Amino acid sequence: MAKKNTDGYLSARDARKISKENRKITNAYEKQRKRKNVPESEYLTTMHDPRNAVEFDNLHTYFFTDAGTVKAVDGVSFDVPIGKTVGVVGESGCGKSVTSLSLMQLLQRPQGQVVEGEIRLNLGSKAYDVTKAPNEVLQKLRGNFVSMIFQEPMTALNPVFRIGDQVDEVIALHDGEGKSEAEIKARTIELLEMVGIANSEGVYMMYPHELSGGMRQRVVIAMALACNPKVIIADEPTTALDVTIQAQILDLLRQLKDRINSAIMFITHDLGVIAEMADYVVVMYAGRVVEQGTAEDIFYHPAHPYTIGLMASKPVVGKKVDSLYSIPGKVPNPINMPNYCYFKDRCEMCVEGCDGDYPPMISLSETHKVSCYRYTEGKEAETDGR
Ligand SMILES: Nc1ncnc2c1ncn2[C@@H]1O[C@H](COP(=O)(O)OP(=O)(O)O)[C@@H](O)[C@H]1O
Ligand SMILES: [Mg+2]
Repeated sequence: MAKKNTDGYLSARDARKISKENRKITNAYEKQRKRKNVPESEYLTTMHDPRNAVEFDNLHTYFFTDAGTVKAVDGVSFDVPIGKTVGVVGESGCGKSVTSLSLMQLLQRPQGQVVEGEIRLNLGSKAYDVTKAPNEVLQKLRGNFVSMIFQEPMTALNPVFRIGDQVDEVIALHDGEGKSEAEIKARTIELLEMVGIANSEGVYMMYPHELSGGMRQRVVIAMALACNPKVIIADEPTTALDVTIQAQILDLLRQLKDRINSAIMFITHDLGVIAEMADYVVVMYAGRVVEQGTAEDIFYHPAHPYTIGLMASKPVVGKKVDSLYSIPGKVPNPINMPNYCYFKDRCEMCVEGCDGDYPPMISLSETHKVSCYRYTEGKEAETDGR
């Protein structure tokens, strides 16, 4: 990488040099991905545990920008078991969305690239590594096996088409073979009812702007469910809604969870939401997993100082405090990460080992893992970072 000036800004010459180097790297990745007739053996893989729907294994997703390489996700490993909800939590910018977009392979191209690691997707009879699958195959996986509920329902819907036509289109595209128009419409109505829209025939004929935010999000959820996906990614699905509607949508997702038996990856910065939804919790910080475990592990025995800080900064009803705690400092610059624990500069619980390399993943129990020097004493570190 080109050197920076003392004032921290890149000169035009350096920026040109970086951008030329980046183009070389990203062109090579893109060429690989755009190939046609790639043999299945190249992206066929086996699940480490067949009870998992998805396994993220040492995922590295970088953005090659003109200002340098942003290591948005830098060695993330966790599993999403079939029929369970995994909550991914962490403050804004820690790489939650980039992790989920890597699974969908919907990263901003050509800058965004998975440079290392595997994402194994369980298709039932076989498993694919989506990071190696070519575009042709990915198009079939999206919607049929993995679908996504985005944060802002108004941008997920097309403002100039009727609700019914938009849901019909999803069904026709992924699940429409041999179905007549009337059958597709019947399925749309059924889905709209399933997500709690009472006047489904009426809503079928409406445009997105005629619906409230909560109703729109219900439509988006109906679209995500259209083809019985094995994995549903919900990326901050209630952040754009007001609190009462948020509670309704969470209720709906919880009910659906029991009915559809899909794995859900639930992304949020809100620990309260995670507490209501998740079976397992993954805590991310600056592009890495710092702690993971069952919801009980994380809520009753938080181990990483960052998780402890997140808990302390959550208001509790009935508890009187003078001022709400906030974690001091800010996230390090993702272009220039330190070579020691990323949380060290903000940490109020440092111990002796903290000056050393990035801390290893330590198992506290069968389900509970943490990456922190407070727990290394007398414990064997896991070598593969899982
Ligand atoms: N298209 C992009 N180009 C460059 N950097 C990006 C891009 N998308 C995301 N990033 C960076 O990746 C990091 C993780 O972002 P993101 O996954 O969106 O965070 P969040 O946890 O809030 O969902 C951030 O530092 C962000 O600036
Ligand atoms: Mg996000």
